[in-house]
Amino acid sequence: MQDRTPRPEELEPIERAGVDELRALQLDRLRWSLRHAYDNVPHYRRAFETLGVHPDDCRDLADLARFPLTGKAELRENYPFGMFAVPRERIARLHASSGTTGRPTVVGYTRQDLDTWARLMARSIRASGGRPGDRVHVAYGYGLFTGGLGAHYGAEELGCTVIPVSGGMTERQVMLIRDLAPEVIMVTPSYLLAIVDEMERQGIDPRATSLQVGIFGAEPWTEDMRHEMERRLDMHAVDIYGLSELMGPGVANECVETKDGPHLWEDHFYPEIIDPVTGAVLPDGERGELVLTSLTREAMPVVRYRTRDLTRLLPGTARPMRRIEKITGRTDDMMIVRGVNVFPTQIEELILRTPQLSPHFQCVLDRQGRLDTLTVRVERRPGVTPESAERAGAALVELVRNTIGVSVAVQVIAPDGVERSMGKMRRIVDHRRAG
Ligand code: DLL
Repeated sequence: MQDRTPRPEELEPIERAGVDELRALQLDRLRWSLRHAYDNVPHYRRAFETLGVHPDDCRDLADLARFPLTGKAELRENYPFGMFAVPRERIARLHASSGTTGRPTVVGYTRQDLDTWARLMARSIRASGGRPGDRVHVAYGYGLFTGGLGAHYGAEELGCTVIPVSGGMTERQVMLIRDLAPEVIMVTPSYLLAIVDEMERQGIDPRATSLQVGIFGAEPWTEDMRHEMERRLDMHAVDIYGLSELMGPGVANECVETKDGPHLWEDHFYPEIIDPVTGAVLPDGERGELVLTSLTREAMPVVRYRTRDLTRLLPGTARPMRRIEKITGRTDDMMIVRGVNVFPTQIEELILRTPQLSPHFQCVLDRQGRLDTLTVRVERRPGVTPESAERAGAALVELVRNTIGVSVAVQVIAPDGVERSMGKMRRIVDHRRAG
């Protein structure tokens, strides 16, 4: 793999600043953001007043804990434009979250918010190992989803040649990679695997393509998946994190030189970790739910947004900003099987340690009588015989029992048996309500 570490002089000054300078900037910006929300968004004014807090009460970063949390419900109640803090005419663009049920969440950006986003995405791509002049193949979906356009403007801002492919038409993705020779690909990890399978089907050696850097996010993926992708593609696999409610992709990004969890771009977002049940703020290093406050957003300031993503805060390494541990799941994705909490990422890790099985899998939840059951449907790798795959499936049952402590059924199916996603993969299929 090529060395893709950015040179220190290529970084922005804040990426090389000391922690004290960063904290001072954050406090200034936090006070501005709380004031902006209070003055311009009726929901925040009411919520602050209910708790008896005022923006002037924030004298220290720790004071943020006194302010109200915001959840998806509050955003839905104010659908579509009630959370905006600027007149509608100043909104330069709208996006919406994927919301699987009911109303989506609409998010808005001023011209300046779009510039900030492009700069943070450029920073993220650079941290991943992308460079001015690189060709960047964007296979995140374009549209209301923030992945495609977020990646697009960031790559342009960095000075790259953007190839705006969007998701889908996998054969064409492979043709464009072969013919246009991008150095960087931005895509969900699950769809990248579908693209790699297609390369192999076409007799193209994935390790021999032009790709040097993959920037993967929008869904959880594991360290074992990183090794799988780096091995099969001979390129760096780097994690990008973000959510539409806060901006889109580029809230946090891994640095290619360390690959030790995404650095949260703390000059624009202030992180806290809370206990998901009590809401209490937890110290750095402890696992809980990530809560984010925007520090610079004009159109839609967000105060203490509950992301539902489970992680912990770790000290900065390649940058002064703190890191989040690679996100292993959302509170929504936690399956409770016979009293044991299980996340699809835990299953992914174990599948990837079983050479006969491919990383294409789904977790199917059923109810038998009063018991919930979990069946892992997983494809065997091409070239593996059904008999050998069956044995590997039985071994996976044991591995899951011994490592996670839960009994699951494993159903090994033929290659291509699991539906491919073009964007975020649906890992959990829940049949319980039907029964
Ligand atoms: O998924 C934004 C995005 C696009 C991020 C492209 C990265 C790349 P939403 O559709 O609002 O926005 O979904 C946000 O996706 O709360 C996480 O649960 C999950 N997620 C995003 N990135 C990661 C990641 C985009 N790197 C939700 N690892 C978030 C794990 C992720 N989960």
